[in-house]
Amino acid sequence: MDTKTTTISQEALAEQAAYCREIRAYWEASGITPRAFVDTYGCQQNEADSEKIRGMLAQCGYVMAEDEEGADVIVLNTCAIREHAEQRVYGNVGALVHTKRRHPGQKIFLCGCMMGQEHVVKKIRESYRHVDGVFNPHQLWRFPELLKSVLDNGKRIFATEDSPGSIAEGLPLQRKAGVKAWVSIMYGCNNFCSYCIVPYVRGRERSRKPEDILAEVRDLLAHGIRDITLLGQNVNSYGKDLGLGVDFADLLARIAALPGDFWLRFMTSHPKDATKKLFDTMAASPKIAKQFHLPVQSGNDRVLKEMNRRYTRAQYLSLVDYGRQVMPELVLTSDIIVGFPGETEAEFEDTLSLIEQVRYDALFTFIYSPRKGTPAATMPDPVSRQEKNRWFDRLVAAQNRISEEIHRSYEGKTMRVLVDGTEDGLLTARTEGGRLVRFSGDESLVGQFVLVEITGHTTWSLEGRLPENCDCHGNLL
Ligand code: 5AD
Ligand code: SF4
Repeated sequence: MDTKTTTISQEALAEQAAYCREIRAYWEASGITPRAFVDTYGCQQNEADSEKIRGMLAQCGYVMAEDEEGADVIVLNTCAIREHAEQRVYGNVGALVHTKRRHPGQKIFLCGCMMGQEHVVKKIRESYRHVDGVFNPHQLWRFPELLKSVLDNGKRIFATEDSPGSIAEGLPLQRKAGVKAWVSIMYGCNNFCSYCIVPYVRGRERSRKPEDILAEVRDLLAHGIRDITLLGQNVNSYGKDLGLGVDFADLLARIAALPGDFWLRFMTSHPKDATKKLFDTMAASPKIAKQFHLPVQSGNDRVLKEMNRRYTRAQYLSLVDYGRQVMPELVLTSDIIVGFPGETEAEFEDTLSLIEQVRYDALFTFIYSPRKGTPAATMPDPVSRQEKNRWFDRLVAAQNRISEEIHRSYEGKTMRVLVDGTEDGLLTARTEGGRLVRFSGDESLVGQFVLVEITGHTTWSLEGRLPENCDCHGNLL
């Protein structure tokens, strides 16, 4: 395998666009408007990839369907982060046998991180014969060519060559309508945390050029997007591979300097690469949301070392202290793994004490899941699943109490929120820190920043009302 990441040439991408035109012409000639269904599992990176898949499908003439029944193409964009995610995919792919029987022309494609693992591809090849095509994350940009091949000759196709990774600029994108958008700024990961499959399936870190990112953000702002999340497995190492002297904090500052009223967020950050400069840049710009997702994974130094995280509890805590010092209102969230191989109860309790100390606004908690091919999968793991479940429940109970207490402290405050939709007759909105707020108001407020008085709370969300002394746009009179 070549060890260098590459940029896909514009000629190669033009070839793919030509395949799209041929597929579109084929459907037009048959007088059918073809329908496609894209099902996404896992993280925002996958959601962003699915927007590209939908974009390519739209270019091929497909309209999007609500579900798999009767769709001419089904794409399952899979996740490999934990076994549970993989089991769901296997279950759903299995069920597609019946869907395809009812619609024999249907073509089924699997892509995403699961397809970056050889043993998974082998299983699909041998045991899921109704699947027509498979491609791994490196081959995503070739989807039109793969679809064309399957439509032409009906033969199954597997595009699963390994690669250190590439960047394909200018792929068509079909974003969900709304006020929020994701922008991928880099791909891959170099960190090799010992439990994690991502570096094996998504390749090495590679950053998009600042001007390409800025152009995309400008376009989003021109189309009314008001909440932008920059995406990458470890955004803090943005730019290291480019050698342009632009780091992540510089990129944030450049984007935040664009004209318009918007919030800028990002995820995910690795604590070992989060710098004071980054916190200072956030503090200096009103457009950069005061929200930080900073996965700690464990509060115990021995476990952190075994996880290959390359920071200590004390270093992590001093980072959090600095962040809160320059941004007292900072909303902090994190990821935690419970039951890493060899973790003892006392070590788990260090994680509990860390979350009591930090008091995160919210946590994403996971029980360790062995991933074939990662170093942790071969480490002795003597603690039973029941015991891990008990630890997990203790962690969740502690965090729920903390989240509830923090939410209670919002009551009585007036907050600026961005209204992003409606649900059960109420408006839904997000605070700058990303907290969900529901309140009643006119639908015309969707897409606008308004001020809301917080009147109630649950563990996971806030309730509010438009202040009485405010106009219909939520501005105080
Ligand atoms: N088992 C459990 N959780 C995992 N994560 C990553 N790999 C595993 C695994 N093998 C969690 C980490 C990461 C989040 C996205 O998923 O907490 O931050
Ligand atoms: Fe996985 Fe660690 Fe990379 Fe995150 S930083 S994607 S946990 S290897």
